Amino acid sequence: MNIIQCNDSKEVALLSYRIFKEQLIKKPNSTLGLATGSTPILLYNELIKGSQLNEISFKKVNIFNLDEYVGLNSEHKNSYAFFMKEYLLNFIEIEDNHFHIPNGTACDLIEECHRYNNLLSSTKIDLQLLGLGENGHIGFNEPNTSFESTTHLVELTENTRKNNSIYFKSINDIPTHAITMGISNIINATKILLLAIGENKAEAVYNLINGPIDVKFPGSILRNHPDVTIILDKEAATLINKVK
Ligand code: PGA
Repeated sequence: MNIIQCNDSKEVALLSYRIFKEQLIKKPNSTLGLATGSTPILLYNELIKGSQLNEISFKKVNIFNLDEYVGLNSEHKNSYAFFMKEYLLNFIEIEDNHFHIPNGTACDLIEECHRYNNLLSSTKIDLQLLGLGENGHIGFNEPNTSFESTTHLVELTENTRKNNSIYFKSINDIPTHAITMGISNIINATKILLLAIGENKAEAVYNLINGPIDVKFPGSILRNHPDVTIILDKEAATLINKVK
């Protein structure tokens, strides 16, 4: 694993942008796996700037998002489909049918998991972006999810719902379930880039790097992947630096 420590979140975004730029220059028709949450927002700003400056282009790119809340449609401001429009898609040139995300309002959610998983099986993600949950989740793969899991329906933990509550009016508005790519889908990517920002991620980052590879901490599986880069700000790196 390649671990890079930055001074602040801006530097995290600039370094990650470089990795995306390199990927898109090397392979303009790349398949990207993207994430939502507060962590990637500054990177998405850089991707928008880069495409406006014609340093990169999304015209031939396919995007697969990690996950979506159950019960929120793409017009709901808390859905991840909406997030992606608001923070990236509205500002880049990408074919409509090149953006993929699970449909959290599908009538048959299990069938929707199969549909998304089949799409993922028919492609190979060249570069997968990940955040990291305080409890070690990647995507919405909560602790004790099988490392062999494919796209599935998940019940969100209280910890995850609490951490995401800042985006909702009340805790009761936060969906209880989501559809997420499974851990095997994530691990199948050729290259993985995980970002962590802030002191609240320090313990998770420590466990990811130093803890056992165990389903209790889903992110630990990344240690078995041949091409993972982790970019951290100073705060997220606090505990790994203490043990040096
Ligand atoms: P965050 O979420 O980017 O909002 O911190 C990351 C995650 O929970 O995977």
